[in-house]
Amino acid sequence: MHGFRTIIEPFRIKSVEPLRLTSREERARRLQAAGYNLFALPSDDVMIDLLTDSGTGAMSAEQWAALQRGDESYAGSPSFYRFEAAVKDLFAFTHVIPTHQGRAAEKILFSVVGGPGKVVPNNTHFDTTRANVEASGAKAVDLVIAEGRRPELKHPFKGNMDLSALERVLSEERGKVPLVMVTVTNNSGGGQPVSLENLKGVRAVCDKFGLPLFLDGCRFAENAWFIHEREPGQQGRQVRDIVRDMGDLADGMTMSAKKDGLANIGGWLALDDDAWAQQARNLLILTEGFPTYGGLAGRDLDAIAQGLAEVVRHDYLRYRVRSTQYVGEGLLRAGVPIVQPTGGHAVYLDARAMLPHIPPLQYPGQALATALYLEGGVRGCEIGTVMFGLSPDGKESPAAMDLVRLAIPRRTYTQSHMDYVIEVVERVAHRAKALKGYRIVEQPAALRHFSAKFAPLA
Ligand SMILES: Cc1ncc(COP(=O)(O)O)c(C=O)c1O
Repeated sequence: MHGFRTIIEPFRIKSVEPLRLTSREERARRLQAAGYNLFALPSDDVMIDLLTDSGTGAMSAEQWAALQRGDESYAGSPSFYRFEAAVKDLFAFTHVIPTHQGRAAEKILFSVVGGPGKVVPNNTHFDTTRANVEASGAKAVDLVIAEGRRPELKHPFKGNMDLSALERVLSEERGKVPLVMVTVTNNSGGGQPVSLENLKGVRAVCDKFGLPLFLDGCRFAENAWFIHEREPGQQGRQVRDIVRDMGDLADGMTMSAKKDGLANIGGWLALDDDAWAQQARNLLILTEGFPTYGGLAGRDLDAIAQGLAEVVRHDYLRYRVRSTQYVGEGLLRAGVPIVQPTGGHAVYLDARAMLPHIPPLQYPGQALATALYLEGGVRGCEIGTVMFGLSPDGKESPAAMDLVRLAIPRRTYTQSHMDYVIEVVERVAHRAKALKGYRIVEQPAALRHFSAKFAPLA
């Protein structure tokens, strides 16, 4: 397809799922009933669902066929061995422990290595990663490069770790850090990639302090595609070889197969350390299941195995990243401020820049996300002060950025769906000055964005 302006979807549609078209009046009622929290909406009431790219993608015909091969034996299922081989084909870690999703891998990992007094550095912890680090009693520290905190600034690898900040934290917290984590791509920082050079730098710092490096590998293939596209010397290489290089720099990884596993459920914890793996498997048996299924059906393991073979294909990744860029370009043409350059799985609207009249503690991201739903039935996700503004001691402060993430499910929506999304955002942008902030009327102590209730400010 080189030389063409249009990058077509490298698939055709075999089975369709109708969208229910709703009216503005209906959406206003639904929004109020949901306490203005988009997580509380039944998905039937959403027209274009960009809440998350997690587990929401379409499986291929080969994945559906793989489900039929699924073997549901409690122990030693061939589905597990196919899954394990597919993971090891990409990542050379000694132990591969299946989990029902990424956060289960995080919970197990930090139950083993976390605990009160410990400190875990990451470029940016995803919300569940941070919550699992903190639930163990440890402290989560985000050390992304300064460029990664400035939405308008262009940089090819805005997910990179700040290596001098990492070195400083490791010196100051000597003896308290069990491992260093790098999230690829950096979801909470805009879906921005981490370069191979930066990963090598993190590895060198870890070696200096004798510490293991773990990847949060949810979007490893998208990250590798960006390396292939943007990093000097990487253009002629196969993505699967770049993935192998990324893994070889690490001692382990957590993974949500709901992203670059191209599956609707699943995940894993992979690692080299035998003693940690033993402890992890013991915890797995306690809460997830036997180590050859880890909370998944055999058929899920087969769907993931097939998904891993498909996700590193260049035609898929070219389309995937290009279709996300397409949305970003449309929004920029309409004058909408977004995190630049666009990430792999999502476009992030800069709600703080769009709604400067709404202070962070009145949640501009929430105001924008609810307005998009009301305007056109588009569901995005606030990634800002609602998600990150509440610390474990109950204090509230503005998050680094107030964004709304429009996450694009894999192989699910067409270009005209995306044209509609651009139009909806454009319309909301035109009446941005009229939007009002929110106050929280009810919230849990942690991960409040999932279940908090809001009231619009007069
Ligand atoms: C970077 C990152 N880490 C971890 C997770 C958690 O994965 P899961 O939703 O499968 O528990 C996610 C999910 O969105 C993520 O984006």
